[in-house]
Amino acid sequence: MPALTESRAGSVAVLTLDLPGEPVNKLNAAVKAELEAAFARLRTETAVSAVILISGKADTFIAGADIEEFTRLTSREAFERLSLEGQIMLQMVEDFPRPVIAAIHGACLGGGLELALACHYRICTDHPKTQLGLPEVQLGLLPGAGGCVRLPRLIGLSAALGIILPGRSEIGPKAFRLGLVDEVVPKSILLETARKAAERLSAAGAAAVKRKGGHWLLDRTWPGRQIVYAKARRDTLKKTFGNYPAPLAALEVVRVGLERGRAAGFVAEHKKFGELAVTPVSRRLIGIFFATNALKKDDGLPAGVTAVPRAIERLGVIGSGFMGAGIAGTAVSQAGIGVRVRDTELSRVGKGLKSATDILTAKLKRRRLSRFDYERQTALLSGGTDFAGFHNADLVIEAVFEDLEVKRTVLAETEAATSEATIFATNTSTIPIGDIAAQARHPERVLGMHFFSPVDRMPLLEVIPTDRTSADSIATAVQFGRKIGKTVIVVRDHPGFWVNRILTPYMNEAGYLFSEGVPMEVLDRVMTRFGFPVGPITLLDEVGLDVAAKAGGVMHKAFGDRLTPSAVLGNMLADKRLGRKNGRGFYLYPKGQKAGPDETVYDLLGLKPAKPADLTLTEQRLVYSLLNEAAMAAGEGVVRSPRDGDIGAIFGIGYPPFRGGPLRYIDDLGPAAVVATLRALEQQVGPRFQPAASLVRMAEQNEHFYSDSAG
Ligand code: 3HC
Repeated sequence: MPALTESRAGSVAVLTLDLPGEPVNKLNAAVKAELEAAFARLRTETAVSAVILISGKADTFIAGADIEEFTRLTSREAFERLSLEGQIMLQMVEDFPRPVIAAIHGACLGGGLELALACHYRICTDHPKTQLGLPEVQLGLLPGAGGCVRLPRLIGLSAALGIILPGRSEIGPKAFRLGLVDEVVPKSILLETARKAAERLSAAGAAAVKRKGGHWLLDRTWPGRQIVYAKARRDTLKKTFGNYPAPLAALEVVRVGLERGRAAGFVAEHKKFGELAVTPVSRRLIGIFFATNALKKDDGLPAGVTAVPRAIERLGVIGSGFMGAGIAGTAVSQAGIGVRVRDTELSRVGKGLKSATDILTAKLKRRRLSRFDYERQTALLSGGTDFAGFHNADLVIEAVFEDLEVKRTVLAETEAATSEATIFATNTSTIPIGDIAAQARHPERVLGMHFFSPVDRMPLLEVIPTDRTSADSIATAVQFGRKIGKTVIVVRDHPGFWVNRILTPYMNEAGYLFSEGVPMEVLDRVMTRFGFPVGPITLLDEVGLDVAAKAGGVMHKAFGDRLTPSAVLGNMLADKRLGRKNGRGFYLYPKGQKAGPDETVYDLLGLKPAKPADLTLTEQRLVYSLLNEAAMAAGEGVVRSPRDGDIGAIFGIGYPPFRGGPLRYIDDLGPAAVVATLRALEQQVGPRFQPAASLVRMAEQNEHFYSDSAG
């Protein structure tokens, strides 16, 4: 079945792209051939005055090149050719002698936007689902079908770099302000507006198909552009530490395209595309794209078990603190369901509802939410001090104080106030769910849902069934998590679950290194260079020292000496230092903003900070503590697959995506090499580095976490 169908609106040809059997439109080899054939044919049809390109999909224009095709190519030359062929096809569109209009609704990304850029006129809808962007660098690539050359010419150098280098997408109104599209209209009149534009442009003749120049200022002069290139390079290196080659390569291609002309730009573009596509970084990032998509289809159940997830229409949230409010606001904004919040005092309920509403307000301000939806969603939020409104809740999530007895009481009260069908989820980061559920009347409907803070921004959710949780409850929680926009992993009910388990020894090690005198900013820099978004000391300040100390204590109790925390946190807490939240942590927070290190901390702890001459050992101690724990926990079956473990580490703690996750990284280093380094650290630093038994076995038997790592 063809993907492209043609119809006529008077003398205007309307090409509708609707890839059969696929949820989104993508530019694969077959679609490219169809587009080429259509434009070649229309060129000869002189009765056709203009062409409109539109999508037949509900919410995507075109999601870009077909990433799946990338996995079948292996050589640099093959990727170069793929990019070149894309460029040639789009040149054909640009060279079409009559106006070509892109009518865009929904995701218009990567090659999809590049196709729109090759058209002579672009109209998009104002719907929040309409996103225009070039996300290629997030896959370790660069826009390879002319985007690096055309975009700066259309919207100016600075604005183009603002989209290409971070791989950003923009909604319709912003795209219009940038000059990326010529008109932005409601969805209902998209085609009609495109048809009118087609008639207008074809009446204007050849002038209409000529590209109009940008209207930028600094970018127009050679010296001005040099400033922009230099700043973009500096900013990129500051963010990536050179770990990601794609943004720098894209910057270089943009520069060539502007300084040496379009032809040179296109050559540089397809050459760099070929180079980048075969880098391990790109392979890993593409692997994460597919792993995340595969997780979206995983019901979280053990093999052979099936269940029917129940739709959640009404949610109850107990505890209106930061987490509870975050869960309530996220549920309303993502799923549009009624949420009832309960807390012990009305003032707390009010505060919680306000911060839940703030999530919606932020979306309204960024125009990710219409005023109508904002009003509708805020009306879905309510709260009180009793259980009114809980009797018909499908799911209740408690996010109260991290204390076993308190959580047990909340569970008992909730069971008394809710129906025979209500699922009870506890949001805890460390307390075993089995302990909380021990006296439950309906343990089959109790499980853990571990959200990360801030809930509306952190993409991960750990769902933790006990051995008594029913399959229906698991499937329902997983489906609900996904509905509110989370990537969900189902993990074993084991202290710390997955994310806090692997994080604990890493945070402990940072404490040890600090107490040995390694300066806080050095520790942070070592890890941001490795690829984490923030270092461990900053993370402690962000999480809250009290929260971290409490979690560390639970983990120490559960796992013994190996996870003994350093004395640092206790001493900091004795000085009432809670981190960013009370403006007193490792770093200074004048006016709430993080500034430099608080040097008084060294005196407080009796330390003389000194940067180690060789930071390799510092990095190894931090990284290998995490790798070893990840291997150990994976060996204990805490995660259902290496994929889940790696996605959990990347989305939960910001483990560097380009390294593919800790388990993938162990595979890449080789389990035997990891064991050898751990043994050396065990000798040099202490017994906590004793390699996990499961890792030693893997090394001995030459096994890997992933089947494609072997060999
Ligand atoms: N290639 C291949 N498959 C794609 C795809 C693409 N570009 N975009 C989406 N898909 C697939 C997904 O894998 C998923 O497949 P599955 O159902 O078999 O698992 C399906 O389409 C639906 O995707 P989502 O579940 O992600 O749907 P959403 O509605 O949540 O999101 C989207 C839609 C915003 C388009 C999102 O899928 C997305 O961001 N896609 C990737 C966009 C991208 O990175 N484009 C750049 C590609 S590289 C490129 O264009 C190179 C060029 O410069 C030469």
